Amino acid sequence: MHALERPLTAELERLATAGLTRHRRLLASPCGPRAVVEGQEMLAFASNDYLGLAAHPDIARALADAALVWGAGSGASHLVSGHLCPHAELESRLAAFTGFDRCLTFSTGYLANLAVTPTLAARRDDEIFADRLNHASLIDAAQLSRARHQRYPHGDMATLERLLAASVARTKLIVSDAVFSMDGDLAPLAKLFALAERFDAWLVIDDAHGFGVLGPQGRGSLAHCGLPAHPRVLLMGTLGKAAGVGGAFVAGSELAIEYLLQKARSYIFTTAQPPSIAAALIRSLELIAAGDDRRAHLQSLIRQLQAGCANLPWRLLPSQTAIQPLIVGDNEKALALSRSLWEQGLWVAAIRPPTVPAGTARLRISLSAAHRHEDVAALTSALQSLA
Ligand SMILES: Cc1ncc(COP(=O)(O)O)c(C=O)c1O
Repeated sequence: MHALERPLTAELERLATAGLTRHRRLLASPCGPRAVVEGQEMLAFASNDYLGLAAHPDIARALADAALVWGAGSGASHLVSGHLCPHAELESRLAAFTGFDRCLTFSTGYLANLAVTPTLAARRDDEIFADRLNHASLIDAAQLSRARHQRYPHGDMATLERLLAASVARTKLIVSDAVFSMDGDLAPLAKLFALAERFDAWLVIDDAHGFGVLGPQGRGSLAHCGLPAHPRVLLMGTLGKAAGVGGAFVAGSELAIEYLLQKARSYIFTTAQPPSIAAALIRSLELIAAGDDRRAHLQSLIRQLQAGCANLPWRLLPSQTAIQPLIVGDNEKALALSRSLWEQGLWVAAIRPPTVPAGTARLRISLSAAHRHEDVAALTSALQSLA
């Protein structure tokens, strides 16, 4: 072993001893409820493909057709020579869909989040107010900024109000997931917006898990809560979950988006996503807008799961989204439950600290409009048999 590797080995051993080593499962099938995983046929409740679009033939066809017309890669960043017609078309469709003036697209949601917070709150005397359960990419974004990072307890509007009232920062940024990725609950968006108005703060909303699923035509969590596309709001949405492809967008006012285009390092210093991805997303957006049947089916699966889990010794968190967490508590018990389901051909991920708070290890049941009612019945009866 090279001397440089010694501390790495020690850390890997520490993770292994703590039972925190992570493993990738290898799939030999496209994303969907029926997955071939390491030679086994599994019924999967583990993806973020909430509308069942990841393997939709129309989207795959749009991607393939566009690759034949536009080539495989964009060849440069958007500001150099990588901004192609499909990118521009996707931007304007996303802006129209979300109701904002304008939007920018990114290769991943992680990069989109890194673009917003450090760019808007760039100075030491700026202040960021963030929900404690925000996604890791929002936390990293805050750490990239020089601003002061204040984290308020999950959903605690009284504490947020107190922090905002005490702040003397010229630029204040309230940052929150719209739908929390490990709990499935919705942030109090109307209250966040009211506080942003009262204390003249930006409101940055990460709608990774609401876009496509919530709101009329799947326009997302803001539309679901009846909030306006106001100039103080920046909306980030990911395109690799309900949209079924990959990438992300940030939507906002004309000026805020122009500012990000000029200043956001994770927009400027990275190659634009392949144009075929943008073309696939244009088709996906059409399917999302016309996807009321998919969303209604998803909601009926959610109700079925909630009814089927009502008498279990583990508590399903209240969530109206596709993310349905079953709280087990103990790390080992959550892992054992996930393993027992696996042995019955059911794939549900166990989520443990540090991803979730200590003592709240859980199964993260992820539903998709591609599931059938008999799939959910198979899961609930397996859970009943293990209770
Ligand atoms: C809330 C939230 N924000 C951002 C991201 C990052 O998006 P992406 O996977 O497109 O990088 C994720 C998940 O991946 C997420 O759950």
